[in-house]
Amino acid sequence: MADLSVDLCGLELPNPFVLASGPLTWNAGAIQAAFAGGAAAVVTKTIRPEATINPVPHIADAGRGSLLNTEGWSDLTAEEWIERELPALRERHGGVLIASLGHTPQEVAEIVAPVAGAGPDLLELVSYRAEDAAPMVAVAKEKASLPVLIKVSANWPDLLDVVKACLQAGADGVTAIDSIGPTLRIDVETGQPLLGSFAWLSGRSILPISLRVVAQIAQEHGVPVVGTGGVAQAEDAVEMVMAGATAVGVHSTPLLQGLGWFEKTLARLDRWLEKQGHSRLADLRGLALPHLQVAMPHTPLAFTFDPDLCTRCGRCVTVCGYGARQLTDEIEMLVDEELCRSCGLCVTVCAPGALDTLETP
Ligand SMILES: Cc1cc2nc3c(=O)[nH]c(=O)nc-3n(C[C@H](O)[C@H](O)[C@H](O)COP(=O)(O)O)c2cc1C
Ligand code: SF4
Ligand code: SF4
Repeated sequence: MADLSVDLCGLELPNPFVLASGPLTWNAGAIQAAFAGGAAAVVTKTIRPEATINPVPHIADAGRGSLLNTEGWSDLTAEEWIERELPALRERHGGVLIASLGHTPQEVAEIVAPVAGAGPDLLELVSYRAEDAAPMVAVAKEKASLPVLIKVSANWPDLLDVVKACLQAGADGVTAIDSIGPTLRIDVETGQPLLGSFAWLSGRSILPISLRVVAQIAQEHGVPVVGTGGVAQAEDAVEMVMAGATAVGVHSTPLLQGLGWFEKTLARLDRWLEKQGHSRLADLRGLALPHLQVAMPHTPLAFTFDPDLCTRCGRCVTVCGYGARQLTDEIEMLVDEELCRSCGLCVTVCAPGALDTLETP
């Protein structure tokens, strides 16, 4: 059995999975169910002094493992969290509880001390406005003694500067990223926008964006990052860790597939690590970062082809937009070097690995 444990801001998590803030964390009962399902840590639905009133409807399946939502913060008040929900989570058998607070420095100042006093292990601060992030951290660090994560949005153009200001204000780590928006999908049967409006996108389709943000933060600042956004399977979690994440946040996938996703994915993660010969997930942290290239080479690709592995599926030929590739009846692979632009697409679509590139020196 591989070691899946990670250390997040001094707290030992038995596995990397953090259930991110959202409908599955709406109250104490839901959070207990998530711990029981296998989440090592859970972030509460975002607490503000007043409860939100959500539009109806406010979550839609956007297809391919993704969701759209127009959901606000918690539909319970801060008082209900402080007096009822957080105290009910004091017995949580090792599960790490993260209280999410939003969305302005004034609101954080108002509720952070009683929320922190009601028993969470960590605080996570979230705002729609980049300029509020660092002041929120400063006020939380002043009024509470728990470690603080700042949750960032990929929409913020000066994201790395915001992270820097938050770290200077005392943040202990970063959660990256929130759902992305505004976005739009349209039901073509009715011509109606899904959810009747622009909405926020989460789930599978945002994984490449969250990976980019996690890698940038890890590279620039080297702080603990809860890599969140688009994780749907064990290999995605490995990618997050290789991009520099300490722990892996997820919400849309267990919302779509049920809390059983945690156990299934942990078993698969364990098998994957063993198969690859890794004994410890945490050893893979940041593995991809030294290979992120600033300047890419311009030398033409040199290909290798293994006819024994080739299934003759023809995909490499189909995807070559320049018509450079041909597979003969004798299973001989021909490339027209005049036409080939060395884009590399054909190699990446070859599932059995029959087509490959030679490492350029
Ligand atoms: C329906 C829904 C509600 C959400 N509500 C919150 C919230 O209250 N506070 C927050 O910080 N993030 C919220 N999120 C964002 C998630 O915590 C997470 O950052 C985002 O969905 C990306 O992760 P995923 O692709 O695994 O879902 C919400 C996401 C969804 C889908
Ligand atoms: S994509 Fe790979 S398996 Fe398919 S024809 Fe090309 S080389 Fe063969
Ligand atoms: S590298 Fe690009 S251009 Fe060259 S054969 Fe492959 S798909 Fe065609």
